[in-house]
Amino acid sequence: MNQTSYIEISKSAYKHNISYLRGLIGKNVRITSVVKGNAYGHGVENIVPLAEKSKINHFAVFSASEALDVHRVASSKSDIMVMGYLSDDQMAWAIEHGIEFYVFDIDRLNKAVEIAKRIKKPARIHIEAETGFNRTGFEFDKLPAVVDIINSNHSHLILEGLCTHYAGAETITNHFRVINQIESFSNFAKYLKAHDLSPRYMHTAGSAASLTYPQTIMDMVRMGIAQYGFWPSQETFIHQYKTNMAKDSDLKRVISWKSRVMTVKDVSPGDFVGYGTSFLANKKLKVAIVPVGYSNGYSRSLSNMGRVLIQGKRVPVIGSVTMNTMSVNVTDIPNVNRNDEVVLIGRQKRESITVASFCEMSNMLNYQILARLPGNIPRVIVD
Ligand SMILES: Cc1ncc(COP(=O)(O)O)c(C=O)c1O
Repeated sequence: MNQTSYIEISKSAYKHNISYLRGLIGKNVRITSVVKGNAYGHGVENIVPLAEKSKINHFAVFSASEALDVHRVASSKSDIMVMGYLSDDQMAWAIEHGIEFYVFDIDRLNKAVEIAKRIKKPARIHIEAETGFNRTGFEFDKLPAVVDIINSNHSHLILEGLCTHYAGAETITNHFRVINQIESFSNFAKYLKAHDLSPRYMHTAGSAASLTYPQTIMDMVRMGIAQYGFWPSQETFIHQYKTNMAKDSDLKRVISWKSRVMTVKDVSPGDFVGYGTSFLANKKLKVAIVPVGYSNGYSRSLSNMGRVLIQGKRVPVIGSVTMNTMSVNVTDIPNVNRNDEVVLIGRQKRESITVASFCEMSNMLNYQILARLPGNIPRVIVD
């Protein structure tokens, strides 16, 4: 272990999740595996081959650099789709390499045509519809211009998709907003059809919409958080429980995060632990130092709040999480030694630390916790 902690990626959990999700969405729907944010912290180099083994051959990312990361490890038969930023140079690279990308304004559409003409390769585009998220996407009144450009450039453009993104399908609070978006999207689809344009894939659903609004599944779904074994929200799980008798274990966490005890020390009653005065020992304590801090992705807001597992027991983080270390109170474990395994996320004997427990304590989304795990923590595939 060159680094101070390591991440395990469970091959069997990933395979299980895909087959469960495949069962729900149906076998004829294409799944694009959303691997932006270094595959939600799991490592693109790990997830792309695992996804391909589960017969997924489409990958969605945000940017050109993420597309390049996927391109390096994906089979040449897999497709890559950029949903976000591309500079003009990057767009040329994308077109050259057959990378698909979203277009959401006239400028970008014209640029795609111009580059495609210049390099004599068609641009593989997805028209993004603005249906109420108000981030990126063509407003409905831009459609005549969009259709005009596409219809006069058939040899330079391949219309891979028509798509949109829902503004929070994981909670009932947004129900009416999502329903309005579904309706708005169908107007975009009708308009294209009426103008003889048929995108290869209609796609609107991420994990939450796929699990909650079956009508959003269409030809392809963009599966992010659920493939990694997380219910997008408790509400999503309850919905699946009520409609399909889902069990919590139908999605299995793919990631575990582990380290080792660096040293153990005694602290006298009346002494403070770590920076400042946030933790006062009220009795004689045994403290283990774990070489993981906020520079390694362990949030400082878990100071005096977090829990880790050592020898199968749940022990609290005491004092502040520093840049490179945290201190944990192991007074109640008789024999803690240097090099003992420390589980930050995952299972040890009968106990487990979930990503959700981090979220509750640090007020962060599981997406955030995962995406901020630094790329330089070694990731190993386990069964
Ligand atoms: C456009 C788009 N589609 C799909 C996803 C995947 O979402 P989820 O992880 O909830 O499945 C995201 C993630 O943020 C996204 O931005």
